[in-house]
Amino acid sequence: MDERRPGRLRSSQWYGGDDRNAYIHRAWMRRGLPPSAFSGRPQIAIATTASDLTPCNAHLNEVAASVRNGVYEAGGIPLDLPVVSLGETQVRPTAMLWRNMAAMATEEMLRANPIDGVALLGGCDKTIPALLMAAASVDLPAVVIPGGPMLTGTFRGTPLGCGTDVWRLSEEVRAGTLSAADFTRSESSMIRSRGHCNTMGTASTMALVAEALGTVIPGLAGTPAPDSRLLEGAHDTGRLVVEMIGADRRPRSVLTKGSFRNAIVTLAAIGGSTNAVVHLLAIAGRLGVELTLDDFDRIGSGVPVLVDLLPAGRYLMDDLHRAGGLLAVLREVEDLLDPEALTVTGRPLVDYLGKASRWDSEVIRSRAEPLMGDGGIAVLRGNLAPAGAVVKPAAASPQLLRHRGRAVVFDSIEDFHARIDDPDLDVHADSVLVLRGCGPKGYPGMPEVSNMPLPKKLLEQGVRDMVRICDGRMSGTAYGTVVLHVAPEAAAGGPLALVRTGDVIVLDVPGRRVDVDVPAEELARRTPSQTTIAGFANPERGWERLYVDHVLQADTGVDLDFLVGSSGSRVSRESH
Ligand code: FES
Repeated sequence: MDERRPGRLRSSQWYGGDDRNAYIHRAWMRRGLPPSAFSGRPQIAIATTASDLTPCNAHLNEVAASVRNGVYEAGGIPLDLPVVSLGETQVRPTAMLWRNMAAMATEEMLRANPIDGVALLGGCDKTIPALLMAAASVDLPAVVIPGGPMLTGTFRGTPLGCGTDVWRLSEEVRAGTLSAADFTRSESSMIRSRGHCNTMGTASTMALVAEALGTVIPGLAGTPAPDSRLLEGAHDTGRLVVEMIGADRRPRSVLTKGSFRNAIVTLAAIGGSTNAVVHLLAIAGRLGVELTLDDFDRIGSGVPVLVDLLPAGRYLMDDLHRAGGLLAVLREVEDLLDPEALTVTGRPLVDYLGKASRWDSEVIRSRAEPLMGDGGIAVLRGNLAPAGAVVKPAAASPQLLRHRGRAVVFDSIEDFHARIDDPDLDVHADSVLVLRGCGPKGYPGMPEVSNMPLPKKLLEQGVRDMVRICDGRMSGTAYGTVVLHVAPEAAAGGPLALVRTGDVIVLDVPGRRVDVDVPAEELARRTPSQTTIAGFANPERGWERLYVDHVLQADTGVDLDFLVGSSGSRVSRESH
């Protein structure tokens, strides 16, 4: 609805009346549409991240066609709006560098155009977070349609989990237990169908978390991309967006603190990606919802992992859908959810749990027999991470959660690659690998490099996990005892820049601490690593310049400082 004239559509600011400007707005849009298209019929943008260069989202044009049918059926006018898309495996230096740009561009195009509501079509890792950040800031009625995971591929009879098995197989090659030729042969089996990664990586996590937030029709997230029920859900979504305009149901009425509570419980129960932490903090920041890093620990700790999916478990996303999907998972933890948090349908999320069933108790465990007892994100602090760092205990080795070890420090990912397999590198199984220069400013863009591959010589000895510490992120498909999102990052003056090879690192996950065992006076005397400083990106122009100047740290969501908050949907002036 028009914020200035309740009861009237926002698009009537463009199309209403008989003056020259209304003529211009209508005439250029007619193109076969009847006059009724511009009088009282909601204009619905279908913001799609379909792109051949985002292979996980390449099918979204077909999904958009079903949304169009639903919008028409409900009396609206569907309008395709291609928005910035990000292929996680393709864009350099990292898709995270562009998440905020995608969010900003989408927000501005929704605001600038004669739009009353929007369907948001995303899938690959950054696309749903960017769309939700945009929708939160422009605050027009909005519903997410997750593009869905791909079907499970197999190689020589063994299911392949996207990402997770790439890391596993490549480590096997380095360890000498898999031939390079077999590794290459598995390549064509990894991606069996349309859709996003089939592990509980970031794309799967954010699709399910978006449903837990209330922004997806309950029960739709996790529907495999090739499943015709996804198109049925897309059709229903088109109808729903039109209905939401009549009810004036906007992101701000759906996305409350209670919604974020539900998202955090979900993140733990599904054993989801640590990337959800920065995305949820950024979305909350757009809404003015007071969500902190500590909320993830406070709300998520003790929530059991109920979903037996890679990388924490065994199965894949189409198994989760077959077993009952997210609603069946959430039924097990209903008492932990906010009973009042609404969904886009206008009904609370918990309303949808009563009829949910677990059809496979191996894939979706009961509360009494969880996969793991604690799926939460542990938030660590200490003299290495004054503003915080995170670790996912469920992905870590239990014996490493309390650990003391000598640091082996790398000043950049290039430094790491150059030295990690050097036979003369002084590194042992109980060493702590420290990688810096990989934060939001330092890389720039905070890439997924924190799960550093282990030294070849240790792999050959059978070592499969070590403590790793980094100011970057980690792929949701990865695993290991990795302390990541260290804030402030080295490039922003964080103490990670002061650590030297040979310092003793003390990790105490139960105590929520990560420290370097060096006296404070000694640390104060040290100067930051000049090699790391010299390696910091210092872009001259363009988005990277803007990004480096304005990006916030991991503990607040890595948004740009001037994008935090909301501008609503008002536009100040006519275009002619
Ligand atoms: Fe797109 Fe994994 S690369 S979801």
